[in-house]
Amino acid sequence: MPTREQVHNFAAGPSPLPTTVLEEAAQGLLNYEDTGMGICELSHRGKEFKAVIEGAEANLRSLLSIPDNYTILFSQGGGTGQFSAVVLNLLSAHRLAHPVPAEQFTPPPIDYVLTGAWSSKAYAEAQRLTSPPFPSCPAFAAPRIAASTKATKWTTLPKREEYDFSKDAAFVYYCENETINGIEFPSASASESSPYAFPFDLVPEGVNIVADYSSSFISRPIPHIEKHAVIYAGAQKNLGPSGVTVLIVRNDLLVDTTEAAKLGAVPHTPITYEYKILADNGSLYNTPPTFPIYVSALVLKHLIDNKGGLEGLEETNKAKAELLYATLDEAEKEGKVKCVVKEKDARSWMNVTFEIVGEGKEKAFLEGADKKGFRQLKGHRSVGGVRASLYNAVTLESVQALCEFIKSF
Ligand SMILES: Cc1ncc(COP(=O)(O)O)c(C=O)c1O
Repeated sequence: MPTREQVHNFAAGPSPLPTTVLEEAAQGLLNYEDTGMGICELSHRGKEFKAVIEGAEANLRSLLSIPDNYTILFSQGGGTGQFSAVVLNLLSAHRLAHPVPAEQFTPPPIDYVLTGAWSSKAYAEAQRLTSPPFPSCPAFAAPRIAASTKATKWTTLPKREEYDFSKDAAFVYYCENETINGIEFPSASASESSPYAFPFDLVPEGVNIVADYSSSFISRPIPHIEKHAVIYAGAQKNLGPSGVTVLIVRNDLLVDTTEAAKLGAVPHTPITYEYKILADNGSLYNTPPTFPIYVSALVLKHLIDNKGGLEGLEETNKAKAELLYATLDEAEKEGKVKCVVKEKDARSWMNVTFEIVGEGKEKAFLEGADKKGFRQLKGHRSVGGVRASLYNAVTLESVQALCEFIKSF
């Protein structure tokens, strides 16, 4: 039976968390700050949990330098829940800003940038939610594809000239890091010169931009945070256990969705998914997932106290990714492996995807890796291959050990 120290966990999510944080959380689960009660046994409206959630919010705001005109929300339903919630909230905001009579209503476009499995799922959900209530009625909105790399089997990003944004879209949507395919938009420092940088300047003035940051949240600075309308992330990669979703919402988008629905031509939003309801209640409209929020709060404190903040994380995460890609590029020259993503600027720092060349070799690689303590390296079931996820809690030492294993295979 291996100990934590003997295992290198490369899971794509839920994924490893810092051991010291888990030790503290284990203690808090039994007896939170000498109350004689565990954190999960305390009211979410009591002073103890209020301090936890407020501390998490303050630390997240400072870590990511979130401007004052944005509200941080803790929600449920994961990234998938937000595929739906962003559509409903942002269509409501758009409807309130365009209160034309129903007979003059035309469905607004919603522009999706498709770069992999997760943005495609989000697009499919937008199509589902906005389809006409009756065949004779107009649709609630017209989701469309503003750019797509499907033809490359999701192995690269669109170039600037490949984007086609509508000028009157209710919003533009992209996924910053495609966890399954291993595609990520370039970092803030690389994006100045990269042809693959997200083209914020091509999005027409006034159009809201939404980003799914589920698998790259707090791994490095967010390029142009102030140009986004909504950023969201499920916690279970870099932040904490599954069960909580973090949102960063620009304040003008905290709208009353019931008022919007009264105008017609926009669907109702389930009450727990309304951003304004969550904001008005400090993310405590109903019972929140207290334990995941508690552990996330501990992780944020740990990152600020021990990891040199976002700059420290960026440096380490860059070093880990560069080392693994360099090792794989060498192994590819020797004909042993194939990297899924060839373009260096489009490669994910968080999810490194590759294939092992040769009949039966992948099985042998995964079995050999498992014996040495390298766990959860199997690629997503939809694409196969190998995937090493290098989230914040994966150490440079674990990546070095994996590189040695790849070299020796
Ligand atoms: C980028 C991205 N978006 C959305 C999701 C869906 O998240 P959830 O399973 O929390 O609904 C995932 C899950 O891995 C993801 O990686």
